[in-house]
Amino acid sequence: MPRKKVLAANWKMYKNPSQTRDFFRDFLPLISGNDRDEIVVCPPYVDLPTAIETAKGSNVAIGAQNLHWEKEGAFTGEISAAMLLDVGCTHVIIGHSERRQHFGESDDVGNVKLKAALEAGLTPIVCVGEVLEEREAGLTEDVLRRQCTRAFYSISARKAGKLIVAYEPVWAIGTGKTATPQLASQAHLVVRGEAAKAFGKEFADNLRILYGGSVKPENAKSLMAEEEIDGALVGGASLDPKSFAAIVKY
Ligand code: 13P
Repeated sequence: MPRKKVLAANWKMYKNPSQTRDFFRDFLPLISGNDRDEIVVCPPYVDLPTAIETAKGSNVAIGAQNLHWEKEGAFTGEISAAMLLDVGCTHVIIGHSERRQHFGESDDVGNVKLKAALEAGLTPIVCVGEVLEEREAGLTEDVLRRQCTRAFYSISARKAGKLIVAYEPVWAIGTGKTATPQLASQAHLVVRGEAAKAFGKEFADNLRILYGGSVKPENAKSLMAEEEIDGALVGGASLDPKSFAAIVKY
């Protein structure tokens, strides 16, 4: 059975609640009835209640961009999986390269966050990907293997059920440089191989692996045509309702 694709928006640190309301007012009519794929929008934390309320009854799921691994506690500025669930989130992005780069998040932190998300019943979107120097040094496969092994560490296939992975080559994020569909596919095969080692072949065969990095309406179709590419994680082009709708309808 073909894997159902996921088109996910990562708004990063853009839009306030009223801009979120405006986005959904314009976006929802553009994609109504479009149930071929899953659609997810991940706005900043403060926009979540507005996004959830505004998208209610539509085919758009709402996710967060991060979470803390503890259920609650003295962790100033943090948000737990239980809190996200309570407001109505269904998805959460974990280990985005910007978190790794600017906030020192390690592969091991990604692992505990992944465990917390799965435990709570959220659908995690775990991000992996190499930086330019690693690609140029021929280290892409090693990096992806390491990131996956550590992220998946000590999680059973039964618990991993809802896992989604996003391959986001860091050199393609916000740069306008997109990985070719073939190059992305090669990376996805490495990720799928690691998932097979960690969770078994059947799990790996069903795992959705999204591509992220300068996905635009112009390149979405050719990326989505690849058998190995099970969707997209979209940054900049997801901020405009027309452009994200065009990607959803690739
Ligand atoms: P861009 O689509 O802006 O390159 O961002 C990709 C990304 O980081 C999505 O998580």
